[in-house]
Amino acid sequence: MRPKELTSRIFLDGGDPQETREIMDLLGFLDGQTTNPTLISKNPEARRRLERGERFSEDEILGFYRAVVEEISGMLPGGSISVEVYADPQTAAEQMLPQGKMMNGWIPNAHIKFPSSDQGFRAAEKAVKEGLRVNMTLCFRQEQAAAAYAATRGAKKGDVFVSPFVGRLDDWGENGMSLIENIIRMYREGDGHVEVLTASVRHLDHLLYAIKLGSDIITVPAGILREWGEKGLPMPGRDYTYNAGSLAPIPYRDPDLAKNWQDFDLSHELTTKGMEKFSADWKSLIR
Ligand code: G3P
Repeated sequence: MRPKELTSRIFLDGGDPQETREIMDLLGFLDGQTTNPTLISKNPEARRRLERGERFSEDEILGFYRAVVEEISGMLPGGSISVEVYADPQTAAEQMLPQGKMMNGWIPNAHIKFPSSDQGFRAAEKAVKEGLRVNMTLCFRQEQAAAAYAATRGAKKGDVFVSPFVGRLDDWGENGMSLIENIIRMYREGDGHVEVLTASVRHLDHLLYAIKLGSDIITVPAGILREWGEKGLPMPGRDYTYNAGSLAPIPYRDPDLAKNWQDFDLSHELTTKGMEKFSADWKSLIR
């Protein structure tokens, strides 16, 4: 059962409905799910099909993604399911937006994931005006979170998520959790319409510290939710401290949330690399 003191919503980061069921049974609750092209490429049914040498056509893979998302949505009707558009570094906003609208039609509780890139923000700005809920993914710097805020001004709380990827920042030597601290602090100056979704969670301490910081949402792979569940859903106590070891802290910047999103420096190597990896994993499924 959900711990009484838990204020964050807990999502599963995965692409397999059976795992969703297992985690719901184990934890006794689940608030939503995030998916992405890499996670869909790891879906056991997709793997079996690929092992038989049967890659998908473009229509078939979209049909497969839709079926996965519909099944998960049926299990979590009151939650949110993030569905990600295909976007490589060359994909224009004009290509992302129609995909987003199509995916939004698959289920009633979708958040559409767009990359935290120039084209991704252009697509998201239009998407929210057309009534879509969005999740700005592959966020690696505070300015991208400021742009997520500025591009979606006017949207209501709950309709916009920003997903900072803490594990990937750790991987290249920066303390990803300090980006969560910084974004939460920055958003205190705002109107609260963007929710912070801590993503790329790699171990239990990422989860516990994100809870302690009050991250609105935390998306967690099944393995870590299993560990959390098996330990009895421990919560970070008053004296909990996060040990970032030798990871370099990311300094707080003071971006002006009143600016236009185009005025922020949005570039980050990990955003580009992330788009390359997601698109390559998606293409690996297609014949
Ligand atoms: O939700 C984003 C997440 O799936 C990325 O995780 O482990 O690939 O960095 P990871």
